[in-house]
Amino acid sequence: MRVLITGGAKELGRVFSEVLGAQGHQLVITGRDENALRTAEAELRARGVDVEAHVADLGDPDATPKLIESLGGLDVLVNNGALGGPVGPTWQVDENEWWRTFEVNLRGTAFAANAAIRAMTSGRIINVVSNAGAHRWPYLTAYSVSKAAVIKLTENLAVELKRRRIAVLSYDPGMVDVGLMGRGCDVESGDPYVQRVTQWARSQRDQGRFTPVEQSAALLSRIVSGEFDHRSGELITPADG
Ligand SMILES: NC(=O)c1ccc[n+]([C@@H]2O[C@H](COP(=O)([O-])OP(=O)(O)OC[C@H]3O[C@@H](n4cnc5c(N)ncnc54)[C@H](OP(=O)(O)O)[C@@H]3O)[C@@H](O)[C@H]2O)c1
Repeated sequence: MRVLITGGAKELGRVFSEVLGAQGHQLVITGRDENALRTAEAELRARGVDVEAHVADLGDPDATPKLIESLGGLDVLVNNGALGGPVGPTWQVDENEWWRTFEVNLRGTAFAANAAIRAMTSGRIINVVSNAGAHRWPYLTAYSVSKAAVIKLTENLAVELKRRRIAVLSYDPGMVDVGLMGRGCDVESGDPYVQRVTQWARSQRDQGRFTPVEQSAALLSRIVSGEFDHRSGELITPADG
């Protein structure tokens, strides 16, 4: 299947690319960081993966939709790319940075999904979300609220697509020891709110609440294969693995 993974060159997205590439899917990966994209493309190709990498900033409302249009067909969109957003009391953080998080995490995800739906006859859209969207994450409200909006978007799209052979699912990959949470455990900062997040992330890891990243990628690959299409609109979590 032809699978586009936004943010597919780095961190959790890179693990997703490796696992899906090893299963023989044809990959298109995107991100902002051209060096990371070229490196990932070369390393994946060296392992025999059919992959092309493109710079496409999710903050630019046209970039990913135009890329999807130009592909001439797509089976699966994995909307993985996202920003962690600002950390701190909501009324004190930089409001432009707060809003920018919605432009990337919500508008970027929604417009990529719209373009994929227009380009697909059948397939699936997997919106990578977070427990922070299903519940809450005080002091990271841009992240939490943007992911909550994506969970609702998924539910609505699934109903609109009921008569078409396109499934839309939210996927919470669990807390994993790479990317946002992996870095979150290692940050050294004088900022009391960042320290609070770091302490919480470490406590979750120490209590064994992290999901092994291979397990998280294995569940994603089952969703990519169509195994969860009958649950279109729902939030799939590590508990479903
Ligand atoms: N790590 C976790 O424990 C965890 C837990 C729950 C959910 N998640 C979700 O999993 C996904 C990946 O998270 P992560 O931990 O790997 O985060 P990360 O380390 O911060 O990586 C973010 C990814 O998104 C891309 N990205 C960010 N802004 C972008 C933009 N404007 N345009 C295009 N790509 C952009 C980045 O690539 P560039 O820098 O090249 O743009 C990178 O590949 C996210 O949706 C996150 O919410 C992660």
